[in-house]
Amino acid sequence: MEENMNFHILTLFPDMVMRGMHTSIIGNAVEKGILGIEAVDIRDYTKDRHRKVDDYPYGGGAGMLMQAQPVYDAWRAVSERILGGAAEDCAGEGTRGNGVPAVSDDGRKGRVRTVYVTPQGVPFTQAMAKEFAAEEELVILCGHYEGIDERVLAEIVTDYVSIGDYVLTGGELAAMVIVDAVSRMVPGVLSNESSGETESFEGHLLEYPQYSRPECWMGKRVPDVLLSGNRKKIREWRTAQAEQRTRERRPDLYQQYEKLQQCREILGRKKLLHIDMTELIARGKARLVAADGANICLRDAESGIYFLTAENAAEGHKLFEKIAPGPDVLLVLHQEFLCEPAMEYLGTRERMDCYQLVYTRREKLPVAGLYREEQTTEDGVPVIRKLTPEYTDTVFAHYEMAGDPAYIRERIAKGCVFGAFVDGELAGFAGSHTEGSIGMLTVLPEYRGRKIGKALETYMINRFLEQGYTPYGQVKAGNGISMRLQESLGLYAAKEMVYWVGAI
Ligand code: ADE
Repeated sequence: MEENMNFHILTLFPDMVMRGMHTSIIGNAVEKGILGIEAVDIRDYTKDRHRKVDDYPYGGGAGMLMQAQPVYDAWRAVSERILGGAAEDCAGEGTRGNGVPAVSDDGRKGRVRTVYVTPQGVPFTQAMAKEFAAEEELVILCGHYEGIDERVLAEIVTDYVSIGDYVLTGGELAAMVIVDAVSRMVPGVLSNESSGETESFEGHLLEYPQYSRPECWMGKRVPDVLLSGNRKKIREWRTAQAEQRTRERRPDLYQQYEKLQQCREILGRKKLLHIDMTELIARGKARLVAADGANICLRDAESGIYFLTAENAAEGHKLFEKIAPGPDVLLVLHQEFLCEPAMEYLGTRERMDCYQLVYTRREKLPVAGLYREEQTTEDGVPVIRKLTPEYTDTVFAHYEMAGDPAYIRERIAKGCVFGAFVDGELAGFAGSHTEGSIGMLTVLPEYRGRKIGKALETYMINRFLEQGYTPYGQVKAGNGISMRLQESLGLYAAKEMVYWVGAI
């Protein structure tokens, strides 16, 4: 099995790193082949007869510096391995500043992301962990002594990262922190139940307090509400506790949270139209880009998609100006009058109009006769289960709006696409999109007219409800069949449409 992500840690203390990274969840992921972690001993690359890697700093000063040559050679050896022997000399033309050619010999894009861990770096965050997790290969350079010769850093480093405002004796612990936090965002490292996707930290709230058995310990009782079995009350109590804890311990996070709650209330005045935006907030994925009354721009931290709603074109323009135009920018607009100015702003003609449909009740839909449990038998009734990566090509071949195979592959790898199986054969599939809607609903031609679509949609709605989400989907204008299916299951469509503009 090919690893989902490989870490290459350049260090003077490889044993320290390898010992630290081969236990528990990370160790299991390495064992399963989901992660690859190697520690590269910089000392192996010194040209000094005595294996020396440090020297005095020019201009004087305390301590020793790691020299450029062994660091560069160690890094280069790793880069060459990653790129298949294509790293050029640093002075070579066409390099990207970090000494690696923009395109390697075999035509692959060859930018080796190289992180130098240093207290002078940018503070490490969950968002950064997520960003690094999208790389296939990550090189992390650990410093020692008083640091590393600046010239080699300028040549090879793409990111300077600090894990906090304190000084460690070396970069190894910082590298391990980064490997740990990044790894848990790599698909397959955590079990799907405890996915790193939707964590309260990302939602600007700290975790609520938790309790386990016994009910009474040292005279302290578990709060009654947790024993009540009332899921709604438990949810409310946990939210209140999380809010209180965040207010007390992290006022900076709480301020962000409060602003988003205000937006949520304003957006809720047109609930069906804004369900995509309010769900982003509810699921802890929303980043506030701009808000002025009912003029709001949010960014989904996961997909990077922007969601905009405005009272008029002039207010809309103020929101666009917060977004740097680029080929990858994707906007979801909630008023038609924003479309033309947005397309002009982004320099694109790509636009897709959709209806938004919401399942507004809390009760799950009945499943009898639609789908069944794996262990049971019922003629012609499908079993629905998570699709595994070997179905990627089939999904890609049948999903009408499948643009990018990498996207389909990622959704399947993340356990977000489900297949209906009749007699062991795939009859259809549905899933959740990165930004949070139910979608991809497809029934294979030979299985049409057998309620497979209804079964899949019901399954997805019930699954969303179990996760505490409000189920919603988007249907492209003109797709009457899908509209009727959704409405027959009790979903309500917003009167106004939403408009996707940009890199659709
Ligand atoms: N090396 C030494 N201290 C560090 C820190 N705080 N963050 C990252 N790397 C370091």
